[in-house]
Amino acid sequence: MKKKVILSVVSALLVLSVVLIQNETSNSQSTAKYVGVNTCVGACHKTEAQGKQLDIWKESKHSKAFEVLQTPEADKIATEKGFTTPAAETKECLKCHVLGKEMDESEFETSFDKTQGVQCETCHGAGSEYKKLSIMKDKDKAVASGLVIHTEKEAFCTHCHNSESPTFKEFKYDEMWEKIKHPIPAKE
Ligand code: HEC
Ligand code: HEC
Ligand code: HEC
Repeated sequence: MKKKVILSVVSALLVLSVVLIQNETSNSQSTAKYVGVNTCVGACHKTEAQGKQLDIWKESKHSKAFEVLQTPEADKIATEKGFTTPAAETKECLKCHVLGKEMDESEFETSFDKTQGVQCETCHGAGSEYKKLSIMKDKDKAVASGLVIHTEKEAFCTHCHNSESPTFKEFKYDEMWEKIKHPIPAKE
């Protein structure tokens, strides 16, 4: 009898510690991950009422920013810069053509596809924590969960649009923003 009690106490403790450990690891993994443009536009950012962000982005060169690295022209530029790998495999090129920073595969969920170039999350922050509709609907909550809103837009753009880009000529902010702006209609 006594043995049984001890056994059940021990197993209860085991279960408890497993639960605690699981909580611990899910907390430590709370850093947001990139989920990819398909997740962002799933049911949301593509309708007329929302502002058709998907179409605007698809028609912009940002959606082709990785593809452009797969061209002979890009490889030529990479070679001229002294890189020995093809442009699409050179991290110094990928930096600006995908995330705007060094890429670390551990930050990607499987839905993230780097061949989709400069995506929503490149500019709005990794989305795994804010992608849920219940969070997204509340801007403050979304921002607290990693959504990036820009007030200094020009300074943000020139993070990539600068003379470190091998093909850079100039960056005219107003003209360039006009080509990619994608507001929610009710707000403008
Ligand atoms: C090159 C950077 C860039 C990319 C790519 C980008 N955005 Fe934006 N987005 C901005 C900036 C800058 C603003 C204006 C300031 C702000 O609200 O952050 C903005 C504004 C918005 C707004 C309007 C917010 C409001 O309150 O009016 C929505 C919605 C949005 N983006 C969604 C998306 C989605 C969805 C995608 C991908 C399909 C995307 N964005 C891709 C930079 C970008
Ligand atoms: C993460 C880096 C990055 C950021 C940040 C970024 N861009 Fe770009 N942008 C690119 C790359 C790379 C291309 C070239 C893609 C190509 O040629 O396929 C590009 C191309 C463009 C083009 C097309 C240029 C043309 O000749 O038609 C426009 C317009 C543009 N960006 C506007 C903006 C604006 C406005 C912002 C800020 C709100 C911005 N970009 C922020 C990387 C970036
Ligand atoms: C500092 C950010 C940055 C880096 C680093 C960068 N690019 Fe770009 N790239 C851009 C931007 C922004 C554009 C679009 C505007 C421009 O030409 O500056 C672009 C455009 C291009 C284009 C299209 C040019 C055109 O005329 O349509 C090619 C090709 C290209 N880059 C190749 C490369 C290669 C190859 C590397 C690595 C050796 C590289 N880029 C590194 C930001 C960058």
